[in-house]
Amino acid sequence: MKVFNTVKELRDELEPLRQAGKIIGLVPTMGALHEGHLSLVRRAKQECDIVVVSDFVNPIQFNNQHDLETYPRTLDEDVAKLQSVDCDYVLAPSVEEMYPTPVTDKYSFGIIEEVMEGPRRPGHFSGVAVVVRRLFDIVEPQKAYFGEKDFQQIAIIKNLVKQINYDIEIVPCPIVRADDGLALSSRNKRLSPENRAKAPKIHATLSEATQKAATMSVAEVKQWVMDVFTEDPAFDPEYFEIVEDVTLQPVTDWNDADGIVGCIAVWMDDVRLIDIIRFK
Ligand code: PAF
Repeated sequence: MKVFNTVKELRDELEPLRQAGKIIGLVPTMGALHEGHLSLVRRAKQECDIVVVSDFVNPIQFNNQHDLETYPRTLDEDVAKLQSVDCDYVLAPSVEEMYPTPVTDKYSFGIIEEVMEGPRRPGHFSGVAVVVRRLFDIVEPQKAYFGEKDFQQIAIIKNLVKQINYDIEIVPCPIVRADDGLALSSRNKRLSPENRAKAPKIHATLSEATQKAATMSVAEVKQWVMDVFTEDPAFDPEYFEIVEDVTLQPVTDWNDADGIVGCIAVWMDDVRLIDIIRFK
């Protein structure tokens, strides 16, 4: 495995491989890698000849300075983990390398970004789109792998690929959970031991919500989930939405769509956790 800090080095390395017809897979990450990321790399290794992982904390997708400053940075550990799953190349650029000139590009995603994370994190998805497009331009992958925990991000990136008309397959991959059910996230490292012990309640509650759906309306299930977290002082729920799985628009009836997903964002002290559950 080779680790590059510059775009040119990686591009020079990939060019002959592309010429030779190799299938290149990209796994974009912001580092602080955990089993969830490694599962993306393993999947990419199964489906591609060459796997490139980017390890870059993208400042322009953070709308909260504290979150950016406290985001864990663990490049040495990341490199060791990537080696263990047989990754081929790592791109770990500086901010100046990634953005040599001020970023002026902006993307809009219409109704997909008007819900959930969109209004609460202004500029976030445009920042994600800018970095993902740059990574696509640098790596020119045939396939790119993303975790389903960031469910809205996958919809945004699929829309981005359509907007820019690139021939890249976006491969959504299942959430990896700790044994107690908590969705793996780089932000889990910032939970206090007490909050880490309570955090599995997020997945447990969402799972219970899928049972409640047999007898409760969409509005009642939404209210029930919000009440569970509002009544527990360890949690400060930001939203729980029940949405159609492609357009991400809220549903009002369980028969409104063939695919329905519940998406939650909840604070535990200053750590914001997200998770999803499929209703159907
Ligand atoms: O999901 C993430 O970790 C980031 O949003 C991504 C896709 C790597 C872009 O910085």
